[in-house]
Amino acid sequence: MRPIVVGQAVTKRFGDFVALKEIDIEVENGEVLCIIGPSGSGKSTLLRCINQLEKIDGGGLWVDGELTGYRIVGDKLHELDDNQIARQRLATGMVFQRFNLFPHMTALENVIEGPIQVLRRAPKESRDHAMELLGRVGLAHKADAYPIELSGGQQQRVAIARALAMRPRLMLFDEPTSALDPELVGEVLQVMRDLARSGMSMIVVTHELGFAREVANRVVFMDAGQIVETGAPEDILMNPRNERTQSFISAVLN
Ligand SMILES: Nc1ncnc2c1ncn2[C@@H]1O[C@H](COP(=O)(O)OP(=O)(O)OP(=O)(O)O)[C@@H](O)[C@H]1O
Ligand SMILES: [Mg+2]
Repeated sequence: MRPIVVGQAVTKRFGDFVALKEIDIEVENGEVLCIIGPSGSGKSTLLRCINQLEKIDGGGLWVDGELTGYRIVGDKLHELDDNQIARQRLATGMVFQRFNLFPHMTALENVIEGPIQVLRRAPKESRDHAMELLGRVGLAHKADAYPIELSGGQQQRVAIARALAMRPRLMLFDEPTSALDPELVGEVLQVMRDLARSGMSMIVVTHELGFAREVANRVVFMDAGQIVETGAPEDILMNPRNERTQSFISAVLN
């Protein structure tokens, strides 16, 4: 089975600042990888590079076996055009910290928007699939509610259903619970846990170390644009070897 993500020496700069320094990363199909690390360490940047919201400055990134952003012709690399990049980006679904639902659309309309407008699926089929997904995130009864009528946790669950409606092969989560009131965190983590159990490949940036410990197959600790340590959750979270990992984890736990 080929990996869902391969990154080799991935480098990303913003001006003179190097946000990602030659990152090597591999995520297996069906794997849940959690990324932890201090603010500014490059976690969001890495996710944004994987789904091509950012363009990398060096190295290579493959998603589901396909080199992202380029086509290899002979021994030359040709940059893909916007349409080709848009097509590649469909392989990944992304859920952000702040819910980005369309405020003027109901939950159901938010979920069917992409399949109908982008994938050109039939309305009936899109609606059936959307209702199934809203059911999966426990919100079938809120299909006709507008975002403003939903709690933050419910909005975030609709955002997950909306991403899944595009039938992605990889889901990226960027601190999906960190903007939520504490009592709403659990319901979103439960949906993510179910998704992981269903076999979805997932990369999750999170400060929820309990979730990482329970659900992740592997945990990556990033600092200053580099992967400092990678390993099984119990090793990274309970017995980190690197001093920077140790101090980060004790800071999060205290
Ligand atoms: N568009 C940008 N322009 C300039 N610098 C940027 C840009 N995006 C990110 N950076 C810088 O790159 C570094 C990594 O940012 P990134 O958002 O990836 O960190 P992070 O690990 O996700 O942090 P946090 O935990 O606060 O979300 C930071 O120093 C940030 O200021
Ligand atoms: Mg971030």
